[in-house]
Amino acid sequence: MGYFEIKGGARLEGVVTISGAKNAGLGVIPAAILAGEMCVIENLPCVSDVYIFGEILSELGAAVNLAKNGVMTIDPSSISKLTATSESVSKFRASYYLLGALLGRYGHVELALPGGCDIGERPIDQHIKGFEALGATVVIDEENCKITADADQLKGCEIYLDVASVGATINIMLAAARAEGKTLIVNAAKEPYIVDVANFINMMGGSVRGAGTDEIRITGRQNLHGCTYAIIPDMMEAGTFMIAAAATGGNVVLNNVIPNHLDAISAKLLESGASVETDDDGREFYVKVSANRRLRGVNIKTQFYPGFPTDLQQPMGAMLSLAKGRSLIIEDIFEQRFKYVEELKRMGAQIKLNNRRAMIEGVDSLKACDLYASDLRAGAALVIAALTADGVSRLHNIHYIDRGYEHFEHKLAALGADVKRFD
Ligand code: EPZ
Repeated sequence: MGYFEIKGGARLEGVVTISGAKNAGLGVIPAAILAGEMCVIENLPCVSDVYIFGEILSELGAAVNLAKNGVMTIDPSSISKLTATSESVSKFRASYYLLGALLGRYGHVELALPGGCDIGERPIDQHIKGFEALGATVVIDEENCKITADADQLKGCEIYLDVASVGATINIMLAAARAEGKTLIVNAAKEPYIVDVANFINMMGGSVRGAGTDEIRITGRQNLHGCTYAIIPDMMEAGTFMIAAAATGGNVVLNNVIPNHLDAISAKLLESGASVETDDDGREFYVKVSANRRLRGVNIKTQFYPGFPTDLQQPMGAMLSLAKGRSLIIEDIFEQRFKYVEELKRMGAQIKLNNRRAMIEGVDSLKACDLYASDLRAGAALVIAALTADGVSRLHNIHYIDRGYEHFEHKLAALGADVKRFD
């Protein structure tokens, strides 16, 4: 398995261009199934999750091509299979979007149950609640680890989500896009990814209103057509680079960002004493992050959007390990998102864990050592810690990082980091 060798000490300086949003792409790619003809999706990040989804759609019979420039063409008209139960599907969490897309387009789907994850149990009860409300029959076969959903005709209805789940909101939008009549999702998730998927469905001739708010109205449309759509920049990649710039005392300009998607992380970096400036060059927005003195500890509580994102909690934990004073992180979204803490403590970080709370006492420095990523964002957190550490660290399990960060080591090296990949 591959690892990164990271020599700490460099301040990140320069300009980085942010790639397309993985979590928006993972909702838009299956949405293409709803069209009766080819769709072109632009600005996809070339990361393993995107490759895997393209392969899964190909296994169903769709004609899929992903070019190096992040443009994926999908022609769903040749889909001949409505069953996706291979191991790659069960390992790939976002495959659950095939439930909404295939149910919405064909009225039938059989899928390997998405695995529980390294960050918590991650149930899909709200997804199933939505499908059943729309009139589908859903059967979970625990023994064979698969889920089947059937519907003669999905009928629009009102669905109240007990949890403002990103996945459930997108999945129900996919199923309702071609249903008969109107569907109202109450207590919907408001993440920008939801807006992107809704915009894509509307570009195909669908009717989704209110995405980005907690009430989304979908009017089913039978005939959806192909379209070309570019997905939004990745706010989690942007946030990761903003945190890395502040943690290394650097000075980094981020291009291809949507500033208001970064409000929560910008506010917390400002509170910690970093400088965050947003401007535009007449063409596109950019954000500039710099820190020329030791940062102060801050408190963080992860929330649904627009609150502080759970996906940046881990990178912040690395940065706050070196901030002056005490920081408290409360992880309110997932129950197991502190596995990276043990790795930071081996580097000398002072962190006390109590269920979903991490109390951090900032230290003056971290020491390099062999590190092991446990999930995508934990991997990013450990890269940030290694960039600040004295000495050379080896970060293993970088396949997690490859799931969601495009050309990560190249972008960091271009900012002056000493990071090398060894496969
Ligand atoms: C999406 O996961 C993202 N993944 C996650 O990003 C992100 O952390 C998460 O949203 C929260 O923002 C993708 O978009 C592919 P949820 P998702 O359903 O949809 C509970 C990354 O690092 N819940 O919003 O699975 C759940 O247990 C990944 O890029 C239910 O109880 O998250 C959790 O506590 C990690 N029942 C909370 O809701 C359900 O049916 C939020 O989960 C569904 C969710």
